[in-house]
Amino acid sequence: MTETLAGGAPAGGPSLPVIDTDPFGHEVLTDPLPLDAALREAGPLVYLSAHDIYAVARHEHVYAALRDWQGFQSGAGVGLYNFRTQKAWRPLSALVEADPPHHDAPRRVLSALLGPRTQRRLRAEWTAAARDMVDRLLTTGPGDGRAGSVVEFDAVTCLAEAFPLRVFPDALGLPEDGREKLLPFSDFLLNAFGPRNELVARDAPRARELSDWVVAHCEREALAEGGFGTEIWSAADRGEITPEQAPSVVRSLFAAGVNTTVHALAAVLYALATHPAQWRRLRAEPGLVRVAFEEAVRWASPVQTFFRTATASARVDGVAVPDGAKVLLFLGAANRDPRRWADPDAYDLSRDPSGHVGFGFGIHQCVGQNLARLEAECLLTALVERVAELDAAGPARRRLNNTLRAWDSIPVRARIA
Ligand code: HEM
Repeated sequence: MTETLAGGAPAGGPSLPVIDTDPFGHEVLTDPLPLDAALREAGPLVYLSAHDIYAVARHEHVYAALRDWQGFQSGAGVGLYNFRTQKAWRPLSALVEADPPHHDAPRRVLSALLGPRTQRRLRAEWTAAARDMVDRLLTTGPGDGRAGSVVEFDAVTCLAEAFPLRVFPDALGLPEDGREKLLPFSDFLLNAFGPRNELVARDAPRARELSDWVVAHCEREALAEGGFGTEIWSAADRGEITPEQAPSVVRSLFAAGVNTTVHALAAVLYALATHPAQWRRLRAEPGLVRVAFEEAVRWASPVQTFFRTATASARVDGVAVPDGAKVLLFLGAANRDPRRWADPDAYDLSRDPSGHVGFGFGIHQCVGQNLARLEAECLLTALVERVAELDAAGPARRRLNNTLRAWDSIPVRARIA
């Protein structure tokens, strides 16, 4: 990683620190912490020469940029590609890739749909599903579920993927057939926010098939009555959004609702399995399950980065960013900024993690965050009730993704209570 102070990057601008490391290189995606620290140390605004983009990694400035939607627009894409100058390879999202006023109506519809009433409706069902899943997992082990026996399993496939894949597609109203396409679809989409590197090329041959399946399942006829999907179409019937917007709003749930939660659950399970004292604390104080999840979203932010495009009014710490420049906001780095957090690298249930930007902030702040929290609360509570001790049973394996801090495998050992 070379860091220089140079004026060469931004035309006519003040001298900015320049870092030439590729933020989408394998080394960084495997372990983002060294680049995160280098970016924070370099300054509030850094030029990344590998992609001719700007980077913001300190909490104060990431937070400010997320709030300033006029200065840092989303409508030109939240990936590397600049839809002001480059043609989009797919239809833009009605939410995450829209600025006001276009963003307003779809956002209102989803906020109402995913709000407290829905959470109350789903809580009992998701609690029962989590208990059932944990019970099956523990009783299929050699000890047959007896107290004191030990079960080993992969926390990614058996819980972090399995639980959202069980409850979320039902809530959306998807048929059983084809659900296995959900994770590869959103994996591809989130990879495609980065450059066209080998992670994108690897899955490109399947992209058309996955996207066709999603497009077909955003239509009203493909969705079960009463799920989020048909509720969105009903909002179109009421004139709250246009019929043209409805499939895109449904699609945003396919894109943002599953993989993010999978890797947030993986993050909290990894955090707890590698911090046995924190697991014991959670067993003693199960009321901390929400803190455990929130702290994991801070500590190992599943969504590591998102782009914005600078407009003429964009400033970072008073410094102008050239109009039209792509700006990469490092959410994960902000969430470990020592200027904001005491002992930021510690996973610690005593901390108040609120104020992290793992769900974004401002007008695009995650509209599904409370559903993700509910999924986590149900799953963690079911585990805490049944598992006395949890620890790592082998090395965890990351799955590289241009946007997500994702996991392929987290082997764990659970001693049944
Ligand atoms: C937006 C993270 C779960 C739906 C966002 C953003 C982040 C994020 C960082 C902001 C994007 C930006 O500013 O450009 C996460 C994480 C999750 C999660 C870490 C799991 C722990 C969910 C769930 C849903 C969802 C469960 C759906 C039920 C959305 C949508 C947006 C969004 C539709 C766009 C909102 C807008 O642009 O107004 N999410 N998300 N997310 N999220 Fe989530």
